[in-house]
Amino acid sequence: MSDKLTKENHMKLINELEKHIGNVNKERLIVIAGHPGSGKTILASSICLAFVYQGLKCLYVSFQEPKEKFLDETAGVGLELEKYEKIGLFRFLKLPVVTDGSSLNQIINIINKEVANYSPRVVAIDSISSMLKTLSADIEIRGYLQNYFYELQKMVKGPVILIAELPFGMETIELGNIEFVSDVFLILKHRITRGLLERFMEIRKVRGHELTVAEIPFSIRSKTGISLLSPPILSEISEVEEFVEMPCEILRSNIPQIHKSTLIYYEYPAKFRPWVPSICIALLGLHAYNTLKPILFITYKYPRNVVQLAFKHVIERSTGCKECADLIVSKLIIEPINPYAYSLTELNALENELVDKFDPGMIITHDVGILMNSTKNIEDYMHLLQNQIFYFKRKGIMMARLASRITPYVSKLNKAISDLVMEVKCTNECLDYDIYIWTRFNDPILLKSNELRECIKEATYKVVNIMKSKHSSRLDQRG
Ligand SMILES: Nc1ncnc2c1ncn2[C@@H]1O[C@H](COP(=O)(O)OP(=O)(O)OP(=O)(O)O)[C@@H](O)[C@H]1O
Ligand SMILES: [Mg+2]
Repeated sequence: MSDKLTKENHMKLINELEKHIGNVNKERLIVIAGHPGSGKTILASSICLAFVYQGLKCLYVSFQEPKEKFLDETAGVGLELEKYEKIGLFRFLKLPVVTDGSSLNQIINIINKEVANYSPRVVAIDSISSMLKTLSADIEIRGYLQNYFYELQKMVKGPVILIAELPFGMETIELGNIEFVSDVFLILKHRITRGLLERFMEIRKVRGHELTVAEIPFSIRSKTGISLLSPPILSEISEVEEFVEMPCEILRSNIPQIHKSTLIYYEYPAKFRPWVPSICIALLGLHAYNTLKPILFITYKYPRNVVQLAFKHVIERSTGCKECADLIVSKLIIEPINPYAYSLTELNALENELVDKFDPGMIITHDVGILMNSTKNIEDYMHLLQNQIFYFKRKGIMMARLASRITPYVSKLNKAISDLVMEVKCTNECLDYDIYIWTRFNDPILLKSNELRECIKEATYKVVNIMKSKHSSRLDQRG
């Protein structure tokens, strides 16, 4: 993939934004307020670029920074405005800060002249704060200015974006009636959680459009700019439609069937972490989807080859079939993610993106025990997780969350939200183990580790034969 922000990616941002604020092309007064460094300039420039992509002109008026600095910073987040400046679709106008009533009149005349000559379809003013501050005592000029912004959108026949600075720690601004005159009022905020920056866009007001969420998390990344991380919030929990059979006799005889979007929780002691149950779970996922869909294995802990080796090792040991192990591993999409490099909202959004990209039948996440125990605000995590679970359930994806048992509270939380619980019970001082399995509507069962290995053998051949039947050669289960 190119390291430049693609038009497609950029339009994804605009489409997401439009879900919340309606069509950006409309003749409206959009106020973007926010703390220093919260992303006001980048958001306004992103909206501006959406017009440029449509062949419509954008005028960016700045009292803040020189053109070179602006172009450099916006290019850093993938917004190639310089390219469009050269072909006349973008114009940057640097103006001196307003100091009194007469300089305000001069400034307004310059902007009016530029709008009349250049005919932009969108104008951004970055920022109006110093204008308002200088004039704060003068009620008359202030009212005049508000009327002016209102009239400006009529001249432009498109949106006028006004940027307003919010001092740190303040949630409201000294904007007087601007908030009332505006059609869209957004406030960009940021805070530090887990030592990472989390950004939020508060949608305070949108005239003529239903407000569905009040706050949208977003990120700013080098080369790719702003991404809205709107978690898919579903007001209804989906009905369970399809059921699947267990892939081996020992499970089938105890658990007749489970639904396709089952949430499995597999927990093991921190010091003894058998892979056999994890691989049983993966085989169940492949069997449930007739091997037509891959398994997305997200690991917060191991590199890709360690997960591949674990699968190969267990399958080869249980079946003696190397080819089988390779075939099963070929159905895994392993995505190692360092969870501490992201905020929880970013992590959640990244996982949803991976699911949308790969369309897996099952998603396995490992090790959620470590992640949850190092998360300070567990309520925030659970909120994100529950929405993610509903989203995956609606897509019919089976989920498995693998976790070390670290604290009883986190262990209980995970069990409480799951449909099927598997738990390692140490025997012989953890030299061997039993596995406790509970599913909704069934009595719990306790399987021996060797019964689970048998299950792996049977399930592997079953899955591999389904895969091979597409090439019409079957493998016999021997031994
Ligand atoms: N190349 C980049 N990669 C990642 N993040 C970036 C990059 N460039 C800028 N940012 C982030 O974007 C933020 C600045 O965005 P922007 O300039 O739009 O903020 P602002 O609200 O206009 O700030 P100010 O109040 O200083 O004008 C910074 O906090 C920075 O973290
Ligand atoms: Mg700025």
